[in-house]
Amino acid sequence: MSAWEIRPERPEDFSAIRKVLVAAFGEDRVADGVDRVRESWIYRPALALVAVSDGEVVGHVMIDGCTVTNSAGERTVAMLTPLAVSPEHQRRGIGAALVRAALAGAEAAGEPYVVLEGSPKYYGALGFLPARDHGITMHLPDWAPPEAAQVYLLPGYDGKDPGLRGVIGYPPVFD
Ligand SMILES: CC(C)(COP(=O)(O)OP(=O)(O)OC[C@H]1O[C@@H](n2cnc3c(N)ncnc32)[C@H](O)[C@@H]1OP(=O)(O)O)[C@@H](O)C(=O)NCCC(=O)NCCS
Repeated sequence: MSAWEIRPERPEDFSAIRKVLVAAFGEDRVADGVDRVRESWIYRPALALVAVSDGEVVGHVMIDGCTVTNSAGERTVAMLTPLAVSPEHQRRGIGAALVRAALAGAEAAGEPYVVLEGSPKYYGALGFLPARDHGITMHLPDWAPPEAAQVYLLPGYDGKDPGLRGVIGYPPVFD
């Protein structure tokens, strides 16, 4: 039975979100990156969501700003990172629900698409497609397969708009 609420994060959630991130990723690095996101231009507070179960923060997702650059210039688009669910609450559908809620928020904000780097199996099941098939290039770590670069096309996407193709600039906060 699903018994969680998804809502935008609030400052009073930040320490609980850090605990979720450290538990899910097994290290502080991503939690530190999230702190830096909140202090940077890429932060989209309405698209940083928590899943709350029995009053406890058990999951977190962020859609941040990033850039897509091509010969015509650069524009801001959206990137989903990170996504985390507390280990003891995983495999209940919370991760999928967080992704869907974040995508709905991006759609409401008029974004044309959301890119991410992640498991093609997990995100492909949620409707993400290979980014390269849509003219979007992401620089991946050496160990990641090319299919890890993915995009979710929202209703505002226009496949004929050349401004939506190009090279994704990663938010430097996660370096
Ligand atoms: C990835 C994560 C957010 C999924 O959360 P969740 O709430 O368990 O997700 P759901 O319940 O919606 O889906 C669970 C399914 O996804 C699968 N899954 C989880 N991580 C996966 C991965 N990296 N690749 C493929 N499948 C994965 C699980 O095996 C499970 O499938 P099953 O029930 O058929 O066995 C969670 O496992 C997590 O926090 N992992 C550590 C952090 C991380 O890797 N984040 C993603 C990269 S930013």
